Amino acid sequence: MRELIEKVREQIRQAKQIAVLTGAGISAESGVPTFRGADGLWRNKDPMKLASIQGFLENPKEVWEFYNWRREVIAKVTYNKGHKALVELEKKKENFLLITQNVDGLHSLAGSKKVLEIHGNIWWVKCTKCYYKYEDRTPNLGELPTCPKCGGLLRPGVVFFGEPLDSDILDKCCNFLKHTDLMLIIGTSSVVEPAASLGFIVKKAGGVLVEINLEPTPNTKFMDYAIHGKAGEILPGLIEGL
Ligand code: OAD
Ligand code: ZN
Repeated sequence: MRELIEKVREQIRQAKQIAVLTGAGISAESGVPTFRGADGLWRNKDPMKLASIQGFLENPKEVWEFYNWRREVIAKVTYNKGHKALVELEKKKENFLLITQNVDGLHSLAGSKKVLEIHGNIWWVKCTKCYYKYEDRTPNLGELPTCPKCGGLLRPGVVFFGEPLDSDILDKCCNFLKHTDLMLIIGTSSVVEPAASLGFIVKKAGGVLVEINLEPTPNTKFMDYAIHGKAGEILPGLIEGL
């Protein structure tokens, strides 16, 4: 393990441009539940009911109940050592981008600046009628919250299954990844597209892929290095010694 960490650290040292992709695993040690795996939310909840656009249109009350619960959970927690280590990495590398699938906002709270939240942010809400979009950090917004401008039904400012990612954000990611020497892929099960395939842009351009995850994923076989363990334990040691 120590040798592996030292090798990856050397690769990070040499890399001129670094990208990071994070998933729910990096926030697990903060107390935010992940989606898949033994304790994951999707173990006993149906993502198509709670996190798809069809599910929202059919039963907005049930979806809002789920999001209000998640907002309450996230309101009570804070960033951990893994998030903090990525803030340090950003300070050390000028050409840096952190792409996150997480909607919890913990990377920014920790102090990361160059962050793209490709699945949106749970503290944002959008009107389904007039498209007014704003930030509201009230943990529980009630059964069916309405737009302060037009009275239309609000929705969470996150990307639902069945919806495309914001094309400007996706373009920014892809353009950066084309010129990236090394990408850290942290705490994601690598099964949700297009996030799961972003690493291949780096690979195709000759860059190095490093996975840091509790367990192997379907993408582990494409990695140059795979470190298995908790992000909050591995990242500080990896980045401190740079
Ligand atoms: P998942 O819940 O699918 O995967 C989390 C991964 O993190 C798993 O592979 C775990 O083994 C790993 N993990 C758990 N704890 C960890 C720790 N302490 N350190 C390192 N790794 C750990 O979450 P995502 O891959 O982020 O989308 O899920 C992708 C998307 O699916 C989410 O953004 C969400 C979800 O449905 C939307 O809501 C659009
Ligand atoms: Zn409105």
